[in-house]
Amino acid sequence: MSEAAFINSENTLPRHVAIIMDGNGRWAQQKNKPRHSGHKAGVEATRNIIQECARRGIEALTIFAFSSENWKRPKSEVNLLMELFLTALQRELSKLHKNNVRIRFIGNTSSFPEKLQKKISHASDQTAGNTGLNLTIAAGYGGRWDIVESVRAIVDEVKAGKIDPNDITEESISAHICLSGIPEPDLFIRTGGEKRISNFLLWQLVYTELYFTDILWPDFDVSAFDQALNAFSVRQRRFGRTAEQIETKLNNGRL
Ligand code: IPE
Ligand code: IPE
Ligand code: MG
Repeated sequence: MSEAAFINSENTLPRHVAIIMDGNGRWAQQKNKPRHSGHKAGVEATRNIIQECARRGIEALTIFAFSSENWKRPKSEVNLLMELFLTALQRELSKLHKNNVRIRFIGNTSSFPEKLQKKISHASDQTAGNTGLNLTIAAGYGGRWDIVESVRAIVDEVKAGKIDPNDITEESISAHICLSGIPEPDLFIRTGGEKRISNFLLWQLVYTELYFTDILWPDFDVSAFDQALNAFSVRQRRFGRTAEQIETKLNNGRL
């Protein structure tokens, strides 16, 4: 997206959208279908929303595909989800690459099937030079895991004498945590009606606008996404300041 487009849409279009894609199982249940048909339909919804983000010039999209706690699901469902990831990646990668989408994965994927792990690194490598939508897929991800990994990396640097413990700051933790280098999420969307974070981006969501909808993920279409974007566009983000300060900034262009 061009810089000019960002300036025009300042405060109205989120630069970074983070989504908990929830409700696949219930969508299937409502249709008297097995849970896996809900996951399959969920893949289609994901594809449409990725496309829409790219089309609108949103800078980054982060989607929660599989949490560190989702390992607790029945083995048959976990296996099916792994197969679906693989086939979706195989099917979509070349088109995403052609559309200049940069794909990253966050999370601990070391227990994923080897073939899927290979496809994940292939997708990341192949699209590493792309300059369009930054698509991050959180798989095997947990917000607490993310914080622990960041702390570990910092402790290693302290042990190696590269930094002093007094140099540990919010910025240095942010620099070691997943999604560093991408602006923090502006808009968080959770479909499926639950109003919780479920161990998604704990550190990164501190000032993200939260939007919850009862729509189940497979039904989350472009018009539902529009509604979320519209809701975001009328939020006033204060970051601790007063409404008056923010209005003055909007009028004068600075604080
Ligand atoms: C989200 O849908 C997909 C994953 C967690 C992988 P769910 O499978 O959680 O659907 P519900 O919440 O049971 O309806
Ligand atoms: C969150 O959904 C994780 C993903 C969408 C990948 P869950 O369905 O696992 O969340 P809980 O268990 O209802 O909190
Ligand atoms: Mg769920």
